[in-house]
Amino acid sequence: MTASAEATASKTVSVRDIYLPPERKKVAGGGVPHVSAKNFSIYYGEFEAVKKVSADIPSKYVTAIIGPSGCGKSTFLRSINRMNDLIPNSHTTGSLMFDGQDVYSKFTDEVLLRKKIGMVFQKPNPFPKSIFDNIAYGPRLHGIRDRKTLADIVEKSLRKAALWDEVCDRLDKNALGMSGGQQQRLCFARTLAVEPEILLLDEPTSALDPRATAKIEDLIQELRGSYTIMIVTHNMQQASRVSDNTMFFYEGTLVEFAPTAQLFTNPKNSMTEDYITGRFS
Ligand SMILES: Nc1ncnc2c1ncn2[C@@H]1O[C@H](COP(=O)(O)OP(=O)(O)O)[C@@H](O)[C@H]1O
Ligand SMILES: [Mg+2]
Repeated sequence: MTASAEATASKTVSVRDIYLPPERKKVAGGGVPHVSAKNFSIYYGEFEAVKKVSADIPSKYVTAIIGPSGCGKSTFLRSINRMNDLIPNSHTTGSLMFDGQDVYSKFTDEVLLRKKIGMVFQKPNPFPKSIFDNIAYGPRLHGIRDRKTLADIVEKSLRKAALWDEVCDRLDKNALGMSGGQQQRLCFARTLAVEPEILLLDEPTSALDPRATAKIEDLIQELRGSYTIMIVTHNMQQASRVSDNTMFFYEGTLVEFAPTAQLFTNPKNSMTEDYITGRFS
């Protein structure tokens, strides 16, 4: 990256700079930062995969993360609920705050953190269990045993994930028998069942056909305003359709973070422009 790109990129992107859609200002809580990174770096051994990122992610908005393969999108996303901890040799520097609390403090309860910050991955990964047991898994882990309470949670979560009508008569069937798109909505439902505040979505539609993709995009629109959503996507149309704000990463650096409409029509950085116009991928 050029020195000037780095200089532009290292400027802190404040939530005040982020566009708040006027019609959603009230419901969305006025764009309070939910996650704040400050000079936040993530390493694999000596390799700095994410470089001194400073950014505020507004609460209850959809933030898209775009950039070429290997630029650190997944690494950054996984760091938010400390999934990177599971990778030997990885460590962080700088700070990452969630709701004003230091995510990387030694006092952080990781199980609770991952309950509040759920994740859906590229490939649907239901457990080889019944649909019911997939959704009830998290609530059971957190101590809920009562069958009626669990049944209510299962129904509510499947409804939120726009899957209830398709599966309500076969909750006892193995989840692996569902279509790919249904499995991915099941993964959303499983995440929603523990009442998270943040949903981290890592290319949630890249393994799905266009119809299933459209359903997931509709679902994101439904959930928008109720959850803080961060979505990594390679699909620029998808980023423009579903997100309020977009982060563009390049070689581990956050190059630009702006309202989605602005980033795609009037990027401030020439590298963002080169990327969105397809000059490199
Ligand atoms: N578990 C790992 N161990 C070592 N290096 C990794 C690991 N995961 C990712 N990387 C490296 O970190 C960089 C960022 O990867 P990643 O976050 O997966 O990028 P993206 O999601 O943007 O494609 C890449 O250079 C990748 O090779
Ligand atoms: Mg990735």
